[in-house]
Amino acid sequence: MEYRGYDSYGFCVFNGDKSPFLHKKTGKISDVESELSNLDVPGCAGLAHTRWATTGGVTEENAHPHFDCRKEIFVVHNGIIENYRELKEQLSQEGHKFSSETDTEVIAHLVEKFLENKNEDGQKRSLEEAVAEALKLVKGTYGILVMSKSEPQKIVAARLSSPLLIGVNDDEYIIASDPVAIAPYAKKIVNLDDYEIAVITPDKLSLARERSAEDLEYTSQEVERGDYDHFMLKEIMEEPEAVENAIRGRLMPEVGSVKFGGLENSAEKLRSLDRLLLIGCGTAHYAAMVGEYMLEEYAGIKCETDVGSEFRYRKPIVDDKTGAIFISQSGETADTLACLRELKQKGVTSIGITNAIGSTQSRETSTGIYTRSGPEIAVASTKAFIGQVATMAMLTVYLGRQREMSLVTGSRIVSELDRVPELGRQILAKREEIKKLVEKYKGYRDFWYIGRKYNAPIALEGALKLKEISYLHAEGVPGGELKHGSLALVDKDFPTIAICPSDSVYEKMVSNIHEVKARGGLVIAIATQGNEDIKNIVDDVIYIPKTLEMLTPLLAAIPLHLFAYYMAIALGRDVDRPRNLAKSVTVE
Ligand code: AGP
Repeated sequence: MEYRGYDSYGFCVFNGDKSPFLHKKTGKISDVESELSNLDVPGCAGLAHTRWATTGGVTEENAHPHFDCRKEIFVVHNGIIENYRELKEQLSQEGHKFSSETDTEVIAHLVEKFLENKNEDGQKRSLEEAVAEALKLVKGTYGILVMSKSEPQKIVAARLSSPLLIGVNDDEYIIASDPVAIAPYAKKIVNLDDYEIAVITPDKLSLARERSAEDLEYTSQEVERGDYDHFMLKEIMEEPEAVENAIRGRLMPEVGSVKFGGLENSAEKLRSLDRLLLIGCGTAHYAAMVGEYMLEEYAGIKCETDVGSEFRYRKPIVDDKTGAIFISQSGETADTLACLRELKQKGVTSIGITNAIGSTQSRETSTGIYTRSGPEIAVASTKAFIGQVATMAMLTVYLGRQREMSLVTGSRIVSELDRVPELGRQILAKREEIKKLVEKYKGYRDFWYIGRKYNAPIALEGALKLKEISYLHAEGVPGGELKHGSLALVDKDFPTIAICPSDSVYEKMVSNIHEVKARGGLVIAIATQGNEDIKNIVDDVIYIPKTLEMLTPLLAAIPLHLFAYYMAIALGRDVDRPRNLAKSVTVE
């Protein structure tokens, strides 16, 4: 689970009715891996947790597992208990002693309380009954696992909103927040439903809704780094393949259109929509912004994009002709899911564009498309972004052909999309050039990224990637916005990366580049192969192959991802697990 980002961790191992072995630490597991592997801890059941601090500082006491007053009940939790203060106050008045600042610890004390007092028939409750009673009092989100010294061979699992799935093997059960953690050990999984409680013992998995385990889509190879130094480089190198996977079996050049198995049952509803809300967070939001340009220009549909964390508190005006597209790699981003649930309540048709198979978003959207980028492990999203943009291009053709888009236009986009993987590989083949360029620019602390139209969101994406993993200051702005203020910061110490393929706004970008050069700024251009003139006005050029204007984001993003990667390497950063960030933000 490390890749999801964390600041402390802990585990407990049960060995019969002896006190469980408990280990909690702040910092990285890798720092003490050798020490841990020498520990001799017998046992065949246990709980482990990587914590990303929300309630309570980064301390050993606040690391999970948390326990009750007599260290009988142990809990690990992913999510936020919103009413923990009232519960903690109540339990303290009843004499419970707390040993952490966290919201999670109240669950351990609630379970303790309901195990102590009898149920309405005067019977002692089982662990799962006590957990069920405790959860009736809890408000918020949770993926929890609970164990007790009195039943050391039993794990009780429950979820509400936070992801939780069970890996099923002949002789073992592995419960985790993420399929990636299960892939090396099990081939079959069961996804827990909201409000469902599962009881796992060595020989039995009891579920409220009995069902058979489904195949785990990920292989252990896919979740391993292989010969690459970092998952991020592996995933950048897989960007052409991400397009190939996204388009496989979906392009219909003969009719200039696209088919999506997942949309077939809602084709008529999608045809009736006249407005689309496109929602995502971070990099997924930038994919939505590229999609907005595509859908307006080529499908003629009114669009609006917003970030999930803002949209969830807006009062959107919608009607039965409004649809909403939710873009998420993990399918577990709390802010995006909150928007999905809000708009579903308002009867808005929800379309999911998701990478993680079986994730909450893919199960809660009324219809959807998998981007098929494969598991993305590095916190900084790269191939998943490419998969999202390729999927937006296909969706544009699908919805456009339902409307005014002609066979000719549809065929042109589809056949060009089919060429993109090869064009992407041409860029990757020149990655050493970008590595060299980074050597020249690694001394700078501030970077501008500018782009226009389809590449205005790519400027934001490039800046985010550099910030996320190199910790340098970077800002992405639409090229035309520079003169409205940002130009004040341009000087010789503040290089600009200008995304200026030979498209309908190229000349506008050239004037923006002149504005920067006139103030002594250095400029690196991302330009179209064959454009020799650009060399005369900028300091360095990274060339990308020629393609359709609406598809240039799929190529321009690749050198920006590489630039950020090599800069982070040059600055000695922990590329795959940058500080303060999580791969999937499952809490608000
Ligand atoms: C991107 O590199 C970041 N990891 C982050 O901005 C991410 O895109 C965002 O948290 C959304 O994640 P999602 O696609 O899994 O919903």
